[in-house]
Amino acid sequence: MQVIKKINDVRKILNKVRADSKSIGFVPTMGALHGGHLHLMKESKNNNDYTVVSIFVNPIQFSQGEDLSKYPRDLGKDTKLTDSVGVDLIFNPEPEEILGADLLAFVDILKLQDNLCGLSRPGHFKGVCTIVAKLFNIVKPDKAYFGKKDIQQLYIIKKMTKDLNFDIDIIPCDIIRENDGLAMSSRNQYLSKIERKDAVIINKSLKEAVKVIEKGEKSAKFVISLIKDKIKSVEYSIIDYVKIVNENMEDVEKISKGDIIACAVFFGKTRLIDNYIIGEKIC
Ligand code: PAJ
Repeated sequence: MQVIKKINDVRKILNKVRADSKSIGFVPTMGALHGGHLHLMKESKNNNDYTVVSIFVNPIQFSQGEDLSKYPRDLGKDTKLTDSVGVDLIFNPEPEEILGADLLAFVDILKLQDNLCGLSRPGHFKGVCTIVAKLFNIVKPDKAYFGKKDIQQLYIIKKMTKDLNFDIDIIPCDIIRENDGLAMSSRNQYLSKIERKDAVIINKSLKEAVKVIEKGEKSAKFVISLIKDKIKSVEYSIIDYVKIVNENMEDVEKISKGDIIACAVFFGKTRLIDNYIIGEKIC
């Protein structure tokens, strides 16, 4: 496995891979890798000849006051993990290499970012779309793998890929969870012991809501209040949002198949997200 820092070097290596008629799978990440990331990499390995992973903590998707400077970084540990699943190449650029000194061109997306995390984190998805578009132009993969954990990001990247005519298949991957149901996240390591234990309430309340919906409940308002009440049983948790949206990220009143129950909740300073898609198997 090679760890490459320069765009031109990545291009040279991947031109050769393509010349050998090998398919390229790509998994963009910000590092601090865990089982969720590894699942995406395994999916890529199983369906492509060559797998590229990018590790880049992207400053332009963090706003002021967010956790950019303390975001966990451990390239040594990350390379061991990627090696263990047989990744072929890691692209790990310095910020100047990929963002340049005077970035003036950005990719922005309308409508889909006007709800959920896009509302709470203004500018976040502009930063995500811009970096992912750049990475797509550098790696030029056949397939790119994104987790349903970041469901709004997944739908936004799908739409960006379609609207900007990237010739790339976006492959959605299931959420990987800890044994007690908490969705794996690089940010889980910020949690204190007590917060980590209490954070399970997010998954518990969403799962309970899915069961209520499966039994026939259609009112989004009712289900949302059910989830909020349960989360509030952890008194110090602060709910950023609990919403039920359709695939256009619009709030729905009457729940139907394919809608998404999504939430973001603070435990101390740590903001955790989770979601379920109605009609999909509970994982
Ligand atoms: P990051 O948070 O590192 O996540 C990288 C990919 O791993 C994303 O597609 C995310 O949805 C997926 N992922 C994270 N936790 C997961 C879990 N528990 N189960 C399944 N998939 C999971 O998302 C980003 O980085 C960045 O925004 C990025 C796309 C790399 C752009 O900077």
